[in-house]
Amino acid sequence: MVNLKGKNLVSISDYNKEEYLEILRIASEFENNPKQELLCDKVIASIFFEPSTRTRLSFESAASMLGAKVIGFSNPAATSQSKGESLHDTIKMLSSYSDLIVMRNPIEGSARYASEVASVPFINAGDGANQHPTQCMLDLYSILKTQGTLENLNITMVGDLKYGRTVHSLVQAMCNFNATFHFVSPEELKMPSSIKRNIKDANLKYSQYTDINEIISFSDIIYMTRVQRERFSDPLEYEKVKDSCILRAENLKGCKDNMRILHPLPRVNEIATDVDQTIHAYYFQQAQNGVYVRQALMAAILGVK
Ligand code: CP
Repeated sequence: MVNLKGKNLVSISDYNKEEYLEILRIASEFENNPKQELLCDKVIASIFFEPSTRTRLSFESAASMLGAKVIGFSNPAATSQSKGESLHDTIKMLSSYSDLIVMRNPIEGSARYASEVASVPFINAGDGANQHPTQCMLDLYSILKTQGTLENLNITMVGDLKYGRTVHSLVQAMCNFNATFHFVSPEELKMPSSIKRNIKDANLKYSQYTDINEIISFSDIIYMTRVQRERFSDPLEYEKVKDSCILRAENLKGCKDNMRILHPLPRVNEIATDVDQTIHAYYFQQAQNGVYVRQALMAAILGVK
């Protein structure tokens, strides 16, 4: 029996396989019946210290559909942080104003720290280049929906594998499902060794490429990522790699019929718009799945599912 009541979600590794599957099961219930007033007496604090469209608004949409009230901010400059208030004190205050805190912050490790300060459950909505576990849950849900299984798949990840937090979380999760990993990136943006070690520890395989065409026909999922300009200290380094992995419709000849392309979004130029019209494009539905998965997470963590 899985019980997630009160359980923080900071890293995808905080949950196990059984818990992932339980969240996906609840998400499917919400997809079939999204408006369920289960959290009418709850207040969700949504605090974003870094820009977001999908994560923030899908959390807020999910909370509204569950009947919860949402407080928070998306512009930290308008909070007392601008007067020098610490993250510690901000989280202490939010713990007394809300039943659950959802936070995005550009500093790696800030989510773990905030979860330890908080006296209410805490969900990490992205901390720097480290983790994005709720995106990972919706990625798992999207893979399950499109492939009919999470087991034994060839997962190809493309682009900025160094700074892309979503791929770090997704590799760790897919290590539970006997995945074979293929990484396509320029030399400068390769998957970090610490994440590759997770694959080795799970006795699974990965291979690395610089040209996406080498691996398209073997892939069940192609997970594209944006080169994360905001994480580069040297703008010239960004210019050098920004156009290194671009997927166009012409690259898709010879791919499996059921291959689907995911992307956490926002996209810049790494998926040409001619891909959008192909049956392989799934990134907009993927973002929609985020509402159901975030409903499932909040409902499970607040003990109403
Ligand atoms: N996928 C994702 O995290 O998008 P946002 O940055 O718009 O929230």
